[in-house]
Amino acid sequence: MNQTWVQLAYLAAALCFVLALKGLSSPKFARRGNALGAIGATIAVVVTLVAEDFDHMPAILVAIAIGTVFGVPAARRVQMTAMPQLVALFNGVGGGAAAIVALVEFLSAGQDAGFGELTASAFTVLVGSMSFSGSVITFLKLQGLMTSRPVVFPGMQVLLPLTALVSVGLAGAVIGTQSISMIYALAAVSLLLGVLFVLPVGGADVPIVISLLNAATGVAVAASGFVLDNVLLLIAGTLVGASGTLLTLLMAKAMGRPIGSTLFGALSGSSSLGGGEASDRPVKSLGPSDVAVMLAYAERVVIVPGYGLAVAQAQGALKELVDLLGERGVEVSYGIHPVAGRMPGHMNVLLAEANVPYEQLKEMDEINPELPATDVALVVGANDVVNPAARTPGTPISGMPIINVDQAQSVVFLKRSMRPGFAGIENELLFDPKTQLLFGDAKDTLSQTVTALKSL
Ligand code: TAP
Repeated sequence: MNQTWVQLAYLAAALCFVLALKGLSSPKFARRGNALGAIGATIAVVVTLVAEDFDHMPAILVAIAIGTVFGVPAARRVQMTAMPQLVALFNGVGGGAAAIVALVEFLSAGQDAGFGELTASAFTVLVGSMSFSGSVITFLKLQGLMTSRPVVFPGMQVLLPLTALVSVGLAGAVIGTQSISMIYALAAVSLLLGVLFVLPVGGADVPIVISLLNAATGVAVAASGFVLDNVLLLIAGTLVGASGTLLTLLMAKAMGRPIGSTLFGALSGSSSLGGGEASDRPVKSLGPSDVAVMLAYAERVVIVPGYGLAVAQAQGALKELVDLLGERGVEVSYGIHPVAGRMPGHMNVLLAEANVPYEQLKEMDEINPELPATDVALVVGANDVVNPAARTPGTPISGMPIINVDQAQSVVFLKRSMRPGFAGIENELLFDPKTQLLFGDAKDTLSQTVTALKSL
């Protein structure tokens, strides 16, 4: 195992992972980054299979075949809007695998295990099991297989910290006694901890928890690298742990909510995200040909895409509209909010699919100063990220920075109904005199607007 070529191959794989992360941090190089990550993982698996003298090679190959048969079609067929739950599931399986590896190592090491190895095993079982069960709950919530609202029951405020304390105590007992029954108990209580940890989190905050559990899985994998004396696992796990932690903090910051209130808000009764009734207050609505005229005779248009664009898969129709406006000399840019949609970079990925040039995409801080000089702000399937309620204290989105479309000369919303956005709160901007609504599925209304624009 210590042959030089194996270590060199592991170094090459580790380098691929680092470069992959670098590539994934920019839309332009994300595909290359993804490919590098896949190459690194392939090197790691092949080298490990060749270099290690496994007793159960047929069973390992069958496991790889099963993983491939389920994983490849799932990843190929998944809709962009369902990506967070797929990531959650894959992440949970990673955490579960790390816990099982540590459990098996613990059982096979017997009395020979040293303090460091025992500590790493107990830690991996705790964090890996928790990450597995927690990820399964996030998957069920996002897939609509259970309610996405916070689930809180009487006594949970006590049960959750108690379960956390018991699992830490059991981890200590595993290290102190090396008892097999203790490590099984640790796995069981940690599974319960993962469930209790995620149940109180509301649907809108689930992507943050997925990212947090992803970081936890990374740390568990790094610890299992220590157990197995495998430096590549240590590096890969640390990279996942560090990047997952940074992503979690960035998402919480972009939503303007401290991470503590995201996780435990429902337990303290301060979270009100989710749900929300459709308003029946009067609004000004208009048709696709009116929108076409407004856009065609504007000098500057800013498009703000949101979750609804992804649901409607309307990115192609939107690009066609923007191209037509460009041909007429209208200056058009896209204003991209960091948490528009349901996952980090959702809008960038969606618009890249439609071959929208990166130069047209402007981040929130860049587009906001341009809005007062904008004739029409076209909000396509977005709501919370433009809701001025974020500026008022005491609402579920208070403190979240928004794209200031209310400062544009006029605003057009494309949406299907008067239902609120993900935070479940009404958007006063819908009732503003300068706002008009084009109701319908965004793909249909955009296609109709394109047709109307062509006939002008
Ligand atoms: P939302 O506030 O959820 O608004 C989406 C809008 O799209 C709704 O107004 C909905 O209205 C409309 N819509 C849905 N399907 C449509 C369709 N087929 N055609 C046209 N319109 C459609 O989305 P947003 O503004 O993008 O905000 C994102 C939310 O997710 C924020 O609350 C954010 O905090 C949360 N969140 C995001 C992330 C990340 S990382 N992106 C992570 C965690 C939480 P109708 O139903 O009336 O059509």
